[in-house]
Amino acid sequence: MFHEKFKEGILSAKQFDREDLDYLLKLSNDMIKLKNSNQLNGKILAALFFEPSTRTRLSFESAMQRLGGSVIGFHSGDVSSIKKGESLADTIRTVENYCDCVVMRHSLEGAAKMAAKFAQVPIINAGSGSGEHPTQALLDILTITEEVGSLDGLNIGLMGDLKYGRTVHSLSILLSNFDVNVYFISPIELKLRNRDIAFLRQRHMKYKEITDYRKILDNLDVLYMTRIQKERFIDLEEYEKVKGFYIFRNSDLENTKDNFRLLHPLPRITEISPDVDNSEKSIYFKQASYGIPMRKAILSELMRD
Ligand code: CP
Repeated sequence: MFHEKFKEGILSAKQFDREDLDYLLKLSNDMIKLKNSNQLNGKILAALFFEPSTRTRLSFESAMQRLGGSVIGFHSGDVSSIKKGESLADTIRTVENYCDCVVMRHSLEGAAKMAAKFAQVPIINAGSGSGEHPTQALLDILTITEEVGSLDGLNIGLMGDLKYGRTVHSLSILLSNFDVNVYFISPIELKLRNRDIAFLRQRHMKYKEITDYRKILDNLDVLYMTRIQKERFIDLEEYEKVKGFYIFRNSDLENTKDNFRLLHPLPRITEISPDVDNSEKSIYFKQASYGIPMRKAILSELMRD
């Protein structure tokens, strides 16, 4: 059962098989219809955000409140006792006494997994450095299912910063549960890491790595764009070389299928021109709205009695 399998929490997209995804997609669809409930009445979520966030933190908080629960937490390491030198392990061992579940964003890749070792309550990875962001990928899968249809048979492009972008790492792992053709589109410097490619090969994913998206744009059902992750570059000169590498413009839409859809986890910087926003093919703001039903589904399962 989902609740039993995920009792440690949601740490990586690698935890999910097709059955788990189908279950969560069905539950999220139910949550779209059920706006408010008292399912988590009396439960408390601790939201520990050591890195900035708009969508993930606020949609988790909103989802929790829509289920009748409440939220405690902080949105910067600077206002917690970490600032005084307390370790993350001690922070988690303390906070778990005050809540039923922890959602955490941290700049270190292994932070969520480490937190789970010290916690008796479920931990949700809300972004761990350049590693993963599994709940974003889950809402991305929900968006495609609701707005395009079944993922099986789709041609999907993942474009932008594939090296440092944690959302594309988690999304490519989830996509390996479906019969999809994936194009990884990036500058040479920002290709998917060898360890990610090795995992996807092991899962027999059908994929190609390319640089020029215009060559395959007319074949795509979905293009998932990402921003270049400036904050992850050690050398800012390297960032300057690739920033602005891709700018998707309204004219690009002329070469797309009628049912083509453009996604982006947001925040968007310059990689999608604002003149694309009004097209019915651009669904990135609608995508952000699917964070609520997906996160309601996740929270209701993880805090089920
Ligand atoms: N997509 C996403 O993770 O957005 P935030 O950084 O605003 O949470």
